Amino acid sequence: FFRSLLKNNVCFRRKFASKTVAAKVQTTTTKKETKDETKSFSTLQEERREQAERSVLISCPPNISEMRFLKHVSRHGNIKNCFFYESFGIYAVVEFSEKDSIASLREATSIPSIQHETAVPFKTRLLSLKANNLNLSSSQPSVQCQKQTTIGVKELILKLSQEDSIDQQLYSLMEEYQLTEENICLRFLVCSLLKDIAAAYFPECIIRPFGSSVNGFGKLGCDLDMFLDLDAVSGRNLKQVGGGLSLEYQMKKMTSERAATQSILTVIGECVDQFGPGCVGVQKILNARCPLVRFAHQPSGFQCDLTANNRVAMKSSELLYVYGGLDGRVRALVFCLRCWARVHGLTSTIPGAWLTNFSLTVMVVFFLQRRSPAVLPTLDQLRDLAGPKDKSTIEGNDCSFVSDFSRIQDQTNTETLEHLLQEFFVFYGNFAFSQMSINIRKGVEQNKPESSPLHIQNPFEPALNVSKNVNATQLERLVTLCQESAWLLQQGGAGGRGLVRDTPWGLAALLQPSLSQSIKMKGRKRKAREPASERIKGLLDSLKSSKAAAGVAGDAA
Ligand code: GTP
Ligand code: MG
Repeated sequence: FFRSLLKNNVCFRRKFASKTVAAKVQTTTTKKETKDETKSFSTLQEERREQAERSVLISCPPNISEMRFLKHVSRHGNIKNCFFYESFGIYAVVEFSEKDSIASLREATSIPSIQHETAVPFKTRLLSLKANNLNLSSSQPSVQCQKQTTIGVKELILKLSQEDSIDQQLYSLMEEYQLTEENICLRFLVCSLLKDIAAAYFPECIIRPFGSSVNGFGKLGCDLDMFLDLDAVSGRNLKQVGGGLSLEYQMKKMTSERAATQSILTVIGECVDQFGPGCVGVQKILNARCPLVRFAHQPSGFQCDLTANNRVAMKSSELLYVYGGLDGRVRALVFCLRCWARVHGLTSTIPGAWLTNFSLTVMVVFFLQRRSPAVLPTLDQLRDLAGPKDKSTIEGNDCSFVSDFSRIQDQTNTETLEHLLQEFFVFYGNFAFSQMSINIRKGVEQNKPESSPLHIQNPFEPALNVSKNVNATQLERLVTLCQESAWLLQQGGAGGRGLVRDTPWGLAALLQPSLSQSIKMKGRKRKAREPASERIKGLLDSLKSSKAAAGVAGDAA
């Protein structure tokens, strides 16, 4: 028995190890190989959701022995996968091969008897393993915990400084920051645990993650955006059967969809607050443009936003997933720019006049569409490739686009990441923000329909500007930082690669806080002299023309 347990254990360890290697290889293989291997968004989501339904989350005693733990839990069924992590104690995610094993585990589980408190008997798949009577502990901690957070910026800068090229630096940053396989499993499991709570009201509901948990651009530690999908409950997908009679449920009517969403979130929010184990700090933010319930899920350490009736955001997440899966350079560039923007305070975790990660990602997509030849297709091109199953209309807007990667032709652009990064900064350092709108549907800038400083057309709701919140000061900071960063990179990799080991250079130099600090200082002095943008623009133009004269390959090459 022990031998087979060990074998299984080794199997899943190998499985994860090989995935890590695969992820490493993926970053260095050509884009052709990665694109056609990529699963469609819905296939991947369904697989992960089903996997989460077969999983449980178990809080473990300290110094738990992995072997003893596995032996104990595997009495209820074959374990397909298991990993440990730390969040106010040690937790194990256990994925059984069969869903039935969870019923067996539940039968062996009791409700705790607490001396001075009373437990509400609300049963979920979040369990707690007590070692009182069982010999599960070992004197030495014997579980290896999976990382759930990224390294700090200082450590990242040191790490990047040791790379040999700027391209390597970008891939290295992505590998360090991206969600791990285990972290993604945990995100789906938390959705599945919450579904069990919401199912008290809506038995057929599904809670789906969206945003950076699934769009391919998630950083370890990012929030968990969730969407309560009631389509299966509402019968929206039900085929009409013939005959002159139809049966309908009687139910309360609401004045609007918004009012219905608010009611649903009110009760689910209350349920999460009252009975949701590990859910703390529940806030119902029902008057926001998109009503939501916000809370912290302590066992996973995730900050959660639960929304309902939010299909467009789900489509936006899928669109970003498609763009990220089309070419290996896209994700590396987005990770790098999200990190750069965060370090320099262009984005923030606090809502306000800052650029959001979503807007920034759309800007990167637009820039890549504008390369010659293009790195990414336009949304209209993706729509034209859509198959019958891809057709989607949400609130009167056409949200169709192709989901099958193999139907999308490979692009011929072969520019290096270093060059693309450099050109991104030049592009937005010189962009006519005052007149033009960024439009990824058409892949060309359009005249601005309104006067917000930054206008990025919402890909699926053309009347909306996704960056309406950004004020003129924040836009100016973005432009200046782009110009300074372009300038630094033009100066031979911002400090010269490998001259002195550990001295920040290339991308590492761009992430140094001193860059934005120096801009702040210069900004004060410049006010008396000339606008920053004009000075840097001139410098960049002169560099560009001297480069062209020297016959250095540029974008047109
Ligand atoms: P993080 O900052 O890592 O959380 O990135 P994120 O992409 O998850 O962004 P966020 O949590 O702010 O929003 C979640 C998702 O909602 C995004 O991925 C988009 O799909 C959608 N979204 C966010 N902001 C907007 C917006 O202004 N307009 C539209 N249409 N969708 C948005
Ligand atoms: Mg998010």
